[in-house]
Amino acid sequence: MNMPRPDLAQAVHAAAKPLELAIVLPTFNERKNLETLVERLDAALQGVAWEAIVVDDNSPDGTADTARDISLRDPRLRVIQRIGRRGLSSAAIEGMCATAAPVVAVMDADHQHDPKLLPGMLAAIKSGEYDLSYASRFCEGASTEAWNRPDRVKASGFANKLARKVTGVQLSDPMSGFFMLRTEILRADAHRLSGVGFKILLDILATVETPLRVKEFPLDFAARAEGESKLDRTVVFEFLVGLYDKWLGRIIPTRFALFGTIGAVGVVVHMAVLGAFLALFGGSAPGLKGQLVGAFEVGQTIAAICAMTFNFFLNNALTYADKRLTGFVPLMRGWAKFALTCSVGLTANVGVSSVLVHYGIHEFPAALTGVIMASVWNFALSSKFVWGK
Ligand code: GDD
Ligand code: MN
Repeated sequence: MNMPRPDLAQAVHAAAKPLELAIVLPTFNERKNLETLVERLDAALQGVAWEAIVVDDNSPDGTADTARDISLRDPRLRVIQRIGRRGLSSAAIEGMCATAAPVVAVMDADHQHDPKLLPGMLAAIKSGEYDLSYASRFCEGASTEAWNRPDRVKASGFANKLARKVTGVQLSDPMSGFFMLRTEILRADAHRLSGVGFKILLDILATVETPLRVKEFPLDFAARAEGESKLDRTVVFEFLVGLYDKWLGRIIPTRFALFGTIGAVGVVVHMAVLGAFLALFGGSAPGLKGQLVGAFEVGQTIAAICAMTFNFFLNNALTYADKRLTGFVPLMRGWAKFALTCSVGLTANVGVSSVLVHYGIHEFPAALTGVIMASVWNFALSSKFVWGK
């Protein structure tokens, strides 16, 4: 029996069988892709009792409304609409935790993943030989030609290599967004997954305690049907931060590492501003002799303010991206608090390093001690005082 469109009778018939499989579809602005996707799922999963769960982050294009319209005709489609949240991984986790089906899959809703792979992936898990099936873009028999994005193929290859090195997960495509596993495995460890960015499969593989038996399926990664990709610079940044966190995060906390790195770049900004100022107004620091306030002091002050401002905005955008201050007044207030914090840090820096030098320690280790101490102080205080709640 081949119906052109899933209808209620068919859905009710399928529902008479206990639910076997849930397909989680994270969506952001995929309105135009949904109708045909449900048709393709229906065609691919004949004889399987399935449900699909759209997890939509309140897309401005009205994806959730469209999903609800379809759902009224075909209740196998369910809808979770999240408000004030964004993220592929966290949407996938919530979707996977929202089903009673014993097996759950995640796939993109933009037709880049072929639903025809689903029955084979399900059979592998049902056989009891495998815990997880996934579709790889980079194993033998796979292809990314139709994707037509050589830049992304390269970037993805690099991301996969990096991910394999850091996590020890040895798959050809741990960044794939198309996979299936027994739901109880996911539920047992869902609270330990990071939920950040796009790397949900990698997270599952790197988090689950007992090693999973994985079956790989070659994928013909298609071109996106409608709309555009949501993988932007923020997602890439979050990916790198996540890898760092797994790699060294326990020794030097990720936020502190970011704060320190930005601080180091701030030193470069400081030197550049000071150099430019002296070149324009002062020659080579003549103010040091005789005059109380010369070109050097003025330049040094301006450079310090510039570097501090640079650090404030960069930390606000990156280190504290999740607690970012926005709007003119909160930004100005945050900047003033940051300046206050840093000035105390600077005083302590100069104080401690001077005392060390006084007691005969060489200038460089003394200065370094002062800098490290001030950084820890600035970090600890500003995380509470500037970006704390
Ligand atoms: N709920 C929700 N929230 N869904 C999202 C979000 C979000 O913030 N961002 C993306 N999605 C959905 C999209 O609507 C789509 O259905 C799916 O997640 C994949 O997103 P794309 O934006 O199409 O990603 P891509 O095609 O560029 O990236 C592909 O490669 C990545 C790794 O290289 C996908 O296959 C990803 O799954 C994969 O991680
Ligand atoms: Mn896509």
